[in-house]
Amino acid sequence: MKKDLEYLKRRKLTGEKITMLTCYDYPTAVLEEEAGVDIIFVGDSVGTNILGYGSEQEVLMDDMVHHLKAVRRGVTTAYLLVDMPYGSCDTPGQALENARRFLANGADGVKIEGIKADVVKHLSTHGVEVCSHLGLTPQTEKPGYKAKAASEAYTFVQEVFLMEAAGAKIILFETIPDEISEYLTSKLSVPTIGIGAGKHTDGQVLVVLDMLGWSSFNFRHNKKYENFRERALSAIRSYVDEVNNRKFPGEENLRHMNPVELEGFLDLIKNRGRS
Ligand code: KIV
Repeated sequence: MKKDLEYLKRRKLTGEKITMLTCYDYPTAVLEEEAGVDIIFVGDSVGTNILGYGSEQEVLMDDMVHHLKAVRRGVTTAYLLVDMPYGSCDTPGQALENARRFLANGADGVKIEGIKADVVKHLSTHGVEVCSHLGLTPQTEKPGYKAKAASEAYTFVQEVFLMEAAGAKIILFETIPDEISEYLTSKLSVPTIGIGAGKHTDGQVLVVLDMLGWSSFNFRHNKKYENFRERALSAIRSYVDEVNNRKFPGEENLRHMNPVELEGFLDLIKNRGRS
């Protein structure tokens, strides 16, 4: 069964949680599908996590399309969401053109960072499903806690309602207090997803490499479910060591010639020479 917007809304209504995970490549998409992730998300965190860029601002539409196409090949039922990169949705017209490029390459919906009511409204009017990303928005801000003080939280809540009214179909909160996301989740009719936004949102999202433990560093909002970095490093070191010490390839990795064919080959070399 395809996990569409209706499926996500039903989960909000029944109180079943929504799972979302970033994904940048085909093999990971296959694993995320197999594990039952609801929203597979091609985030612009591909820039810093995979492409070695210094910031989200370097990520291009072409980068996103390249990774979206790879992920699309591995997604069968999950809702496939893709990030609109920095500078790709500054005006309603530009946003629609770029969003349509994503849809043409297999996205189900697009995520837009920040308070861009006119853009969200335009996309929504043209049938594009938009996830609005509010709170900490990495494309333009340094990490930091949002909506901590009473008046800041009040303003934040108004901005969220504005985006829902503009037509956002999913709202993602990053790095806001648990109490504020609990309040908003109970007031909004659209599903909410959180990262570092407490436990009351309708769903959770993590960066796949963070939860697999790809980096030695950890974020407060993240839980490492694996120690991918240590395990991968140890495996690569073993490979280097075994090649250097002639342990790899072992007998089990070799292909031998049939002895009769080998003898024939040696005769040919002997009689005809090398050419
Ligand atoms: O690109 C990304 O990984 C994100 C998450 C922080 C939600 O936007």
